[in-house]
Amino acid sequence: MPLSLHNKKIVISAGASGIGWATAKVCLAKGAVVYLCDIDIKSLSKIKKNRLYNKRLFAYKCDASEEDEVTDFFNQINKKTKKIDAILNNVGIAGPTGTIEKLTSDDWEQTLKVNVISHFYFTKLAIPMLKKNKGGSIINISSGAGIMGFPLRAPYAASKWAVIGVTKTLAMELGKFKIRVNAICPGTIKGDRMVRVIRDKAKFLKTSRKKIEKEFVSMASMNCWIHEEDIGKICSFLISNEGERISGQTIPVDGNATRLD
Ligand SMILES: NC(=O)c1ccc[n+]([C@@H]2O[C@H](COP(=O)([O-])OP(=O)(O)OC[C@H]3O[C@@H](n4cnc5c(N)ncnc54)[C@H](O)[C@@H]3O)[C@@H](O)[C@H]2O)c1
Repeated sequence: MPLSLHNKKIVISAGASGIGWATAKVCLAKGAVVYLCDIDIKSLSKIKKNRLYNKRLFAYKCDASEEDEVTDFFNQINKKTKKIDAILNNVGIAGPTGTIEKLTSDDWEQTLKVNVISHFYFTKLAIPMLKKNKGGSIINISSGAGIMGFPLRAPYAASKWAVIGVTKTLAMELGKFKIRVNAICPGTIKGDRMVRVIRDKAKFLKTSRKKIEKEFVSMASMNCWIHEEDIGKICSFLISNEGERISGQTIPVDGNATRLD
């Protein structure tokens, strides 16, 4: 029997493209109701043309790193529902590429603000709605850079390790409310973000993009790209009743990445 997310209410940050939108599509196909936000108006207007828009799909403009905007986003959701089943803390920027001596404190602050502190804004407002639901699922998107070192990307690695620390802690705090908290560590995802990451790394190392791309793919034992939908599928499993005893876990979806360099 296919996994059912019938009428499960799911909030997704940065959900108008990439992994967030792929997860929204997987969950919508299984019957969920999705409330997403994004900073990018162009991507949001595409979403608003979806046939499910205003039925089971709702999309709002919100800069996830601005607490007031996240509060407004939740005010909009609260007009439609008082309970939710899940939140996907997906927002995260790549941050700068460079050695520590070349990075600025602004680079650090911006990366930590978007990748860590913004998750706090969403989670804080989601918890009361999950408690009203008498349980649910928080999924935090970390990265391979949250379980391994990642040369030239120190702010990103620091932010993604922080996501794991918050996940483990929240799982312990919220277990008694039947709220499960897990982190997903995506590998190298085929998509726009990796095009930009590969471009920046090739520029920094003065080498070709093809060479960097090959190296990234070879870091997985399975020598493969990961697809955005792969992340959507594990999220939908964790949100579904099939995942009801899984909490506090760090789950890589990366074709067994053994290094990140
Ligand atoms: N793509 C990868 O290879 C990869 C690998 C590991 C982990 N991740 C993580 O997965 C998550 C999603 O990655 P992605 O590749 O889909 O991202 P992406 O760069 O494709 O961006 C996805 C969306 O985030 C939105 N966004 C950016 N800043 C925002 C903000 N401040 N407020 C609201 N929306 C904002 C963008 O407008 C975009 O629609 C991130 O946390 C990322 O670090 C990605």
